[in-house]
Amino acid sequence: MSGLVVAMDGPSGSGKSSASKGVARALGLRYLDTGAMYRAVTWWMLQRGVNLEDPAEIAARSGEPTLTMSTDPDAPGVAVDGVDVSGPIRGAEVTGAVSAVSAVPEVRRRLVAMQREIIAESLPHGGIVVEGRDIGTVVAPDAPVKIYLTASAEARAQRRTAELDGTTIEAQKAAMARRDALDSTRKTDPLTKAADAVELDTTPLDLDEVIAEVLRLVKERT
Ligand code: DC
Repeated sequence: MSGLVVAMDGPSGSGKSSASKGVARALGLRYLDTGAMYRAVTWWMLQRGVNLEDPAEIAARSGEPTLTMSTDPDAPGVAVDGVDVSGPIRGAEVTGAVSAVSAVPEVRRRLVAMQREIIAESLPHGGIVVEGRDIGTVVAPDAPVKIYLTASAEARAQRRTAELDGTTIEAQKAAMARRDALDSTRKTDPLTKAADAVELDTTPLDLDEVIAEVLRLVKERT
């Protein structure tokens, strides 16, 4: 029996995480947050004092941390070497450093291999919703449903500002523009829309409307 894979790509603040979890819950599928994996490796590198300005050092250490992912959409999480880092990986320090770590090909190779294993394990259980930047293009190019979520810069910054303490919309806009530029221009697996992905602009939609639209696309394509 083969399960369903739903690939959800797009920039931060496009509404990917909430929508992906909601779709997984509605369909009884597993859920994988691949951004959390890049963040967890970044957290580990910061803890170990790895020089993040040196891609060769990042590459050399990239095989050391052991990640454990929870794929329950009601209790997603990530542990590094047995330590739950689901909270710390959302901090400003990791957010500011993750683009440098996720640009290193050795890091990507290792995490993409892990992501494919997690997807394969999910298939006998119905399948999985996978969110990230390169799911439809690299990690699961055969996924039958690929969605590319976008939103205006203003809407994305507003959503992020509501999630975080002590920041402003203007500061979030600047931080997101910087991270988008780094994530879309890196040499290995940059953020791009897959040719066969459906683009969904979430700017005028609330969460329930985004979930309903994705569920409609899933129905149409399966
Ligand atoms: O979705 P997020 O903001 O938690 O992702 C954190 C960073 O990880 C993001 O800046 C780019 C990187 N990332 C990636 O390169 N590939 C993915 N599939 C997911 C995230």
